[in-house]
Amino acid sequence: MSYVIGVDLGTSAVKLLLVDRKGTIHYEVSKSYPLIQEKNGYSEQDPEEWVVQTKTGLKELVEKGPASKDEIEGLSFSGQMHGLVLLDEENEPLRKAILWNDTRTTAQCKKIYDMVGEKQLLEITKNPALEGFTLPKILWVKEHEPELFNRARSFVLPKDYVRYHLTGELAMDYSDAAGTLLLDLGANNWSGEICEKLGIDINLCPPLVASTDQTGHVLPDIALQTGLSASVKVFAGGADNACGAVGSGILEEGKTLCSIGTSGVVLSYESSNEKDFGGQVHYFNHGAKDAYYTMGVTLAAGYSLSWFKEVFANGESFEQLLNQVETVPAGSNGLMFTPYVAGERTPHADSTIRGSFIGMDSSHTRKEFVHAVMEGITYSLNESIEIFRNNGKTINQVISTGGGTKNEYWLQMQADIFNAEIIKLSSEQGPGMGAAMLAAYGCEWFDSLQTCAEAFVEVERSFKPEPNKAGQYAELFPIYQDVYAQTKSLNERLSYYRK
Ligand code: XUL
Repeated sequence: MSYVIGVDLGTSAVKLLLVDRKGTIHYEVSKSYPLIQEKNGYSEQDPEEWVVQTKTGLKELVEKGPASKDEIEGLSFSGQMHGLVLLDEENEPLRKAILWNDTRTTAQCKKIYDMVGEKQLLEITKNPALEGFTLPKILWVKEHEPELFNRARSFVLPKDYVRYHLTGELAMDYSDAAGTLLLDLGANNWSGEICEKLGIDINLCPPLVASTDQTGHVLPDIALQTGLSASVKVFAGGADNACGAVGSGILEEGKTLCSIGTSGVVLSYESSNEKDFGGQVHYFNHGAKDAYYTMGVTLAAGYSLSWFKEVFANGESFEQLLNQVETVPAGSNGLMFTPYVAGERTPHADSTIRGSFIGMDSSHTRKEFVHAVMEGITYSLNESIEIFRNNGKTINQVISTGGGTKNEYWLQMQADIFNAEIIKLSSEQGPGMGAAMLAAYGCEWFDSLQTCAEAFVEVERSFKPEPNKAGQYAELFPIYQDVYAQTKSLNERLSYYRK
């Protein structure tokens, strides 16, 4: 038998999958690491933790999984996007990584618009300046930690740093490079113009590769530490959302994905980089060559629910928390939640906005609150679906992945709120499976990612909208949309009291 490994370097843990030629998962391991939040809005991680936990996971997978070491042919990555790993001349990290959900860089985003011009930035990168992206983080370090910045020789994204440790080769793939705000999406190269206008040495940008390109082999030392063979081919891999798309078979026009993890995304395949969404949604390179995707992001999707659980139901499982939510009607008996507990991205790129429960009354019990949180997250994702529809896309069917698919009631809620058929896949390992597929294709098991998806991706169930509920949600959604504008200035005034 032959196998590949998909490594998904997430925000809370690294998950590794051992997958065979049919797409069957034979072993799964997850190793977590902490998030470091020194101040409100800060979100960092220690790159060494990623390396240590990935190696520990690989060792366990080789020791306990069914594959003998010579049967593992390839390995690839999916990674949390945008995080800045700044490296010195020895390729050692100069500081902790600043992650995608860190929102300290509002002033730097403004500076990008001032120096590059909002229109020109959109023209070059197809994306607006958002706090989460990498470029504002580079500018923040340049401004606040100049001595350290002067020692920087390159930067990479989280999974690139781990890959470098396994192979000794430094590179970044296009799907992740697109999320830095330094990639010229039309030219498929680093933008000299943006670097120049912002005083960034273009040599800081690493070599660009395709997600399916081989970027070396496992180093002999790593082979010794993990038990892998040094002949394992390592492929570049991609951004978690690009890999999620690959792993869910979003590889042709008309296919849409909704993924609820820590953040939530609605993502749609694009065959060209020439459409114009005016920056309302992100426009990034896909893991598949010469392909793209557009995407709206809910910053705190699963995170809103896990935040609620931690604060109000600490020690309970998600099953316990969600017990009886199905008895609550659409609209949660007049209670509504906006999931802005970490600010928001789509459609309101706003790091100051915060969440609300609107309409609380003394009849509400915890289950109404939980139900309202689930609805709020889903309304937020529906804002992205609405943008796609308003731009002429037909969205009748959505593949739903991520932690959100564990609860069938939530899948039905997605069908009702999106007013679209929801497809649940047999494996909800989107990004990790996408990484494994990049390796499977790289190892020449398949002649295209699409044929690989035909073999690997299997539908388990579908959920159709219930007309009655879909109608109620169509009435409730505009109320949800009003909450942002009505709470914006209140949150700005309250922001001075945040620690
Ligand atoms: C996408 C984004 C998140 C992270 C999560 O732009 O910031 O989805 O990729 O890992």
